[in-house]
Amino acid sequence: MKLRDWILIALALLAMAVDLPARAAGAVGASGGLLASGIHSDRLAWQHFAGIVAPAGHGRVEFETWAADDNIYTETPAWPGDDAAQRRLRSSVLQRVLAPHGSLDAPVGDCGAVLDAGSGNFPVQAPQPGQAPCFAEEVRRNLATYRYIVQNGLNTQAGLAAAYQKAQSGWRVSLPEDAVQVKADWVPVETLIAWLGRNGVRLTGSQVRAQFHTTFAQGTSFALVAMHISSKDAPNWVWASFEHRLNPGRCDTMGCNDSYGAARRTIAPQAGAHNGQYADCAKTAALKKLFEVKRVAPAWNNYCLKASEIAFVARDGTPLMHGNSFTERVAAGIPIKRSSCISCHASAGFSRDGSAYIKQLTSHPMGTVKLPADIVANDFIWGILTINAVPVEQAKIPHNLDRTRITARR
Ligand code: HEC
Repeated sequence: MKLRDWILIALALLAMAVDLPARAAGAVGASGGLLASGIHSDRLAWQHFAGIVAPAGHGRVEFETWAADDNIYTETPAWPGDDAAQRRLRSSVLQRVLAPHGSLDAPVGDCGAVLDAGSGNFPVQAPQPGQAPCFAEEVRRNLATYRYIVQNGLNTQAGLAAAYQKAQSGWRVSLPEDAVQVKADWVPVETLIAWLGRNGVRLTGSQVRAQFHTTFAQGTSFALVAMHISSKDAPNWVWASFEHRLNPGRCDTMGCNDSYGAARRTIAPQAGAHNGQYADCAKTAALKKLFEVKRVAPAWNNYCLKASEIAFVARDGTPLMHGNSFTERVAAGIPIKRSSCISCHASAGFSRDGSAYIKQLTSHPMGTVKLPADIVANDFIWGILTINAVPVEQAKIPHNLDRTRITARR
C-alpha cells in the first residue's frame, strides 16, 4: 500500500474515533427535553422516582405496593393486598423473547442467567458452589394503570381480541395521564459483590446493604441495580432509567445526562471504555430537598438518572439511543447503540386474535417506528407478553420459555 492510502486509512479511523462516543452507529444519546407543560422530562423523572421510592409502610417503598404482572395479566386480576410475603421476582421476559433459539439454559427458579455477561464483565462462575450468578426482575404498575388495563380488558388474550375489534371503529388504547410503570432489576448480593469485584470495586455485604436498596425474596437477599420508569406525562410517554452509581460502565457508549438531579449534568462516555467507574452523581440542592420532603431513605442517594427520553430522533433526524447498562446491555443482551426505550416500546401491539406482535421488538427498533396496518398499538406497553398467548411458532420463542411457570403463579 502507498503512503497516501495509509494516511487515508488513519484519517478515517481518527474520524471514527472522534465520532464514536456520542454518535455510536448513527445514534445519539437521549437527553430528554421540555414537555408541553413546560417541565423538563429529567425533573419529572426525578419527581416520579422520589414518589416511587418513598416509604410506604411494612418496610416497603411505594412501588413495591403496586400491582405486579401476576396481579394484572390473569383472568382474575386483583390489586395486591398488604402481604409483602407474596412478593415474587421473575427471570427476564424480554431476555427470553430475545434469546437465540435454544441457547439459553432453563432459568434456575426465578433468578436467571444474563444474556450477555461479556458486555458488562458480569460473572459467569458461581461465587460459591451451588450459587450460579443470576438476576431477577419485576414490573409494577400504579393504580391508574391497573384500572385502565383491567377495565378495558387489556389483560387477557380474549380481551385484546375484543379490543382489536373496537379499534376497527376508531377506538385506541390510550392510558390516562397519571399512569406510571416501573421495571426493576435485582441481583443477589453475593453475585453483586462478585460482579463489582471483577470490575475493581470491593464492597462487603454490609456495605451493599447500606448503599443499595435491598429486598429478601425466594430465600435470597437481592440488591437493586437498575430501575426503569415510564409515565404518561406525554402522548408518547416519558422514558427514564436509573442506575446504581457503581454499575460498571454506567455511562459507556451513550454517556449520562441529567439536567435536574445531578450537580454534574453531563458525563461523556469514556472512549472505548468498558465497565469502568464514572463520576458520582452528586445531587443538586433541588433534588436533595425533594428527597427530604418525601422522606426517601439514604440508600437512594446512590442511584443516578442515566437519562430521560421523550422523542424517537434528535432534531437532525438521527435516532436516539437510551438503554440501561444492566437491564438492556447485560441482562437482555441489547447493545446500548441498538437500544431505544421509546422505539422498542412503540412497537408493542397485538393482532386480530389478541396475541402479542413481537416482530419489530426482536429486531431492536431504533428511530421512528410504524406498525403494520393489521396490528393495533398497545400504547407502548409490553406487559402483554406475560399473557400466556403467543403461539410458539409465530413468536419464535425458545422452547425453554416456560410460560406455564408464569401462568402457574396467577
Ligand atoms: C428491545 C426492546 C426494549 C427496549 C430497548 C426497552 N424495553 Fe422496556 N420493555 C420491553 C419489554 C419486552 C418489556 C416487557 C417484558 C418485561 O417485563 O421485561 C418491557 C418492560 C418495560 C417496562 C414495564 C412496563 C411495560 O411496558 O410493560 C418499563 C417501565 C420499561 N420497559 C421501560 C423501559 C425504558 C425506560 C427503556 C430504555 C432505557 C426500555 N424500557 C427499553 C422491551 C424494551
